[in-house]
Amino acid sequence: MKLDGILPFARKLIEKAVSNGDYVVDATLGNGHDTLFLAHLIGESGMVYGFDIQEEAVINTRKRVLAEQLSDRVTLFHKGHEHIFTSIPESHHGKIKAAIFNLGYLPGGDKTIVTTPATTISAIKQLLEIMAPEGIIVLVVYHGHQEGTVERDALLPFVKQLDQKDAHVLQYQFINQQNNPPFIIAIEKR
Ligand SMILES: C[S@@+](CC[C@H](N)C(=O)[O-])C[C@H]1O[C@@H](n2cnc3c(N)ncnc32)[C@H](O)[C@@H]1O
Repeated sequence: MKLDGILPFARKLIEKAVSNGDYVVDATLGNGHDTLFLAHLIGESGMVYGFDIQEEAVINTRKRVLAEQLSDRVTLFHKGHEHIFTSIPESHHGKIKAAIFNLGYLPGGDKTIVTTPATTISAIKQLLEIMAPEGIIVLVVYHGHQEGTVERDALLPFVKQLDQKDAHVLQYQFINQQNNPPFIIAIEKR
C-alpha cells in the first residue's frame, strides 16, 4: 500500500513539526512507545513531558526510557493530561512543538480505564495556549469500542468549531475499512 497507515502518518506529522532541542508532549503514555519515539526526535537538549493516570503506564514508560538511557530528556507525570498547563514549566510555555494522544485504553491493561471527552478536550485547549505557532497536536482516535464512539462524537464537533484563524484541523481516515479502525485528528496552531 502506498498510502500511509494511521500510525506511520501520525509519526510523519510529528517529525515535520519537531527539531533537535524541542519541547514536546506525550499526553497518553501507555506502554511508552510514543515517548521513546519523541525522545529520539528531540535529541539531548530537548524535553518530552509525558502524562498518564495509570501508575503501570508510567512504570512501563520509565523502564523503556531507562533501557535506552534517555531519562535526562523525559519528564513523566503520574497524572492526567488535563493538568498539562500547570505541570509544564512556565518557561516552556509558548515553545511546545508537538503533542501526541493515543486515545482509548492501555493495550494489555485494564480496558475499563479509558480516555474521556472532557479531559481530552480540556488538554487540547490547554495545549493550544502553550504551543508554539506551527506546533502540531496529533490525536489517534480509537472508536471501535463503546467509550471510543462517545469520545469520537464529542471530539469531532469540538475540533470542527475551532476558528480557522487559530488552527488548521485535519482528519485522516480510511473510510472503507471494516470494524471502525482508528483515525487521526491533527491540529496545527497558527
Ligand atoms: C492507547 S493507550 C496509549 C498508548 C501509548 N501511546 C503507547 O505508545 O503505548 C491510552 C492511555 O491513556 C491513558 N489515560 C486515560 N485517561 C488519561 C488522562 N486523563 N490523562 C493521561 N492519560 C490518560 C490510559 O491510562 C492509557 O494508558
